[in-house]
Amino acid sequence: MKISLLAFVLLIAFGSQPLLSAAEASPEQVLDTSGKVLRAGVSYNILLSMPYTSCRSPQGLALTRINGKSCPLDVVVVDRYHGLPLSFTPVNPKKGVIRVSTDLNIMFPLNASCPHHSTVWKLDNFDVSKKQWFVTTGGVVGNPGWETIKNWFKIEKYDGAYKLLYCPSVCPSCKHECKNVGKFVDQNGNQRLALSDVPFQVKFLKA
Ligand SMILES: *[C@@H]1O[C@H](CO)[C@@H](O)[C@H](O)[C@H]1NC(C)=O
Repeated sequence: MKISLLAFVLLIAFGSQPLLSAAEASPEQVLDTSGKVLRAGVSYNILLSMPYTSCRSPQGLALTRINGKSCPLDVVVVDRYHGLPLSFTPVNPKKGVIRVSTDLNIMFPLNASCPHHSTVWKLDNFDVSKKQWFVTTGGVVGNPGWETIKNWFKIEKYDGAYKLLYCPSVCPSCKHECKNVGKFVDQNGNQRLALSDVPFQVKFLKA
C-alpha cells in the first residue's frame, strides 16, 4: 500500500515535469521604456526610430485619410508628439501579458471620423501600382484563422529594443512571407506604415 502511494507521488512529480518546462519555454515578456511588462488592453505610445540613421528623435504613429480616401483610416508615421496611443490583445485573450513572437491584434482608440470602422490594424490588399503592402485599419480582434490572417502582428527583439512584424502563426497552412513593419514614403510625401525590409526600432512608452 505504502509503496503504491510512493509510486503515485513519484508519478505525479515526474508527470508534471513536462508542464513545468512548457511554462518555462513561454517567449520572453515585452517590456516598456520603464522596464515594466507590457499588458494587454493598456495604452502605449509607440516610439519609432529608423536604424542606421543619425536622426535621434523618435517618431510616433497616427491615423489619417491618405489622399482623401474614405474609411477605414490608414496608419502614418508622425512626430512623436502627434502620435496616438495603441493597445495590444494577444491571440489568447486570457493572457494579460504581451510576449515576443506571439500573434497580437494592435489597435488605436476609436475614431469619430470613421465611426463604422474599427481602428484595429490590418494589412491592406497588395498595392499593385506601388508594389507595397500597407498597414491600414478596419481589422477585427480575435477569431484567429485564415479569414483574419491580415489582422495579426508580432513583436520581436531587435537592436536593443523591439521591432514589429507581420508573421502570423494563426493559420499554419496559409502561405505568406514574414516581413518587418517599416515605412514607405509615397509620391505625396505620406509616410505610410508598410511592410519593408528595414524595420523600425520600436519602444513602448506607457501612455
Ligand atoms: C481621427 O482620425 C483623424 C483622421 O481622419 C486624425 O487626424 C485624428 O488624429 C484621429 N483622432 C483620434 C483620436 O484617433
